[in-house]
Amino acid sequence: MALNILAIETSCDETAAAVVKDGREVLTDVVFSQIDLHKEYGGVVPEIASRSHIEKLPHVVKEAMGGLQIDGIATTYGPGLVGALLTGVSYAKALAYALKKPLIPVHHIAGHICANYISHKELEPPFLCLVVSGGHTQIMHVKDYTTFETLGQTRDDAAGEAIDKIARVLGLSYPGGVNLEALAKGGDIHKYTLPRSFKKETHLDFSFSGLKTAVINMLHNMEQKNEEYTKADVAASFLYTVTDVLAVNTFECARRLNINKIALAGGVSANTMLRERFYSDAQQKGCALYIPELKYCTDNAAMIASCGYYNHLKGIHAGLDLNAKPGERL
Ligand code: KG4
Ligand code: ZN
Repeated sequence: MALNILAIETSCDETAAAVVKDGREVLTDVVFSQIDLHKEYGGVVPEIASRSHIEKLPHVVKEAMGGLQIDGIATTYGPGLVGALLTGVSYAKALAYALKKPLIPVHHIAGHICANYISHKELEPPFLCLVVSGGHTQIMHVKDYTTFETLGQTRDDAAGEAIDKIARVLGLSYPGGVNLEALAKGGDIHKYTLPRSFKKETHLDFSFSGLKTAVINMLHNMEQKNEEYTKADVAASFLYTVTDVLAVNTFECARRLNINKIALAGGVSANTMLRERFYSDAQQKGCALYIPELKYCTDNAAMIASCGYYNHLKGIHAGLDLNAKPGERL
């Protein structure tokens, strides 16, 4: 019998709810983006995010539920902004209690990985997944639907965090990633040679803080010397470096583990330069590559419902004492 999972996602600045059948088929998918509320502050204001989630959740959930039969209620419990997470967790608990349905806790990063099951119906674990979001950059070994191992991760900034910072330094408005991508389109990726961390190390970790500082220092230097430069070249060279580091480590990890199935997940995987680089490397190395459709790369509840379905099958349920865990690791 088919199982419909309703999911709620409020870990950051999207208020989202969705119903997904059997982990793969999206029946409804509602996302209210708070971009306009945070724009004037240049980034997400946690207090504003929580208040807006409370305001919008009842409408978003109602729209997603429609008249559908619901067999379980999944919610993102972490990681994310604590106040924002709590709104979704509390709502899901109340709903699970009222409807007498199982409450299913979902880790946000596991959710991002599961976005691939929605976009690629044939994809099954095991595979490698590079998760690149605003808060995370990690290479995961997806051993089965609910078992993950981290094989490489950032030691400081997440790729998305560095991207957002450089976007701001270049005078672009929030959300930085999309705007930086647009700016970089006309730029020269080889104009500036920027540093890559851990080049000679054998581990597969990342570091983006040094790269971020190098770009900021380079801009200061050029400005102090009144040197002319094109922002598009800086954006393109920076994004090229980020993309290069991500691709080199991920494909090296695949080589070492002898895995030829690779997936991308998270907001930064919406980036065209990254997607094209991975497609080209995958083709060259004979790997199958899976990337979610654009709308499932950034935060949404359909990916949480997919993950919720697989957690449910494994008997991963929570009681009404479920709490938000802002720093929870996968
Ligand atoms: O996964 P996500 O929506 O939220 C988190 O879980 O963090 O990722 C958000 C991140 C932000 O840093 C945003 O700037 C970045 O993804 N991003 C992009 C693009 N779209 C979103 N970065 C580069 N190019 C894009 N097109
Ligand atoms: Zn996310």
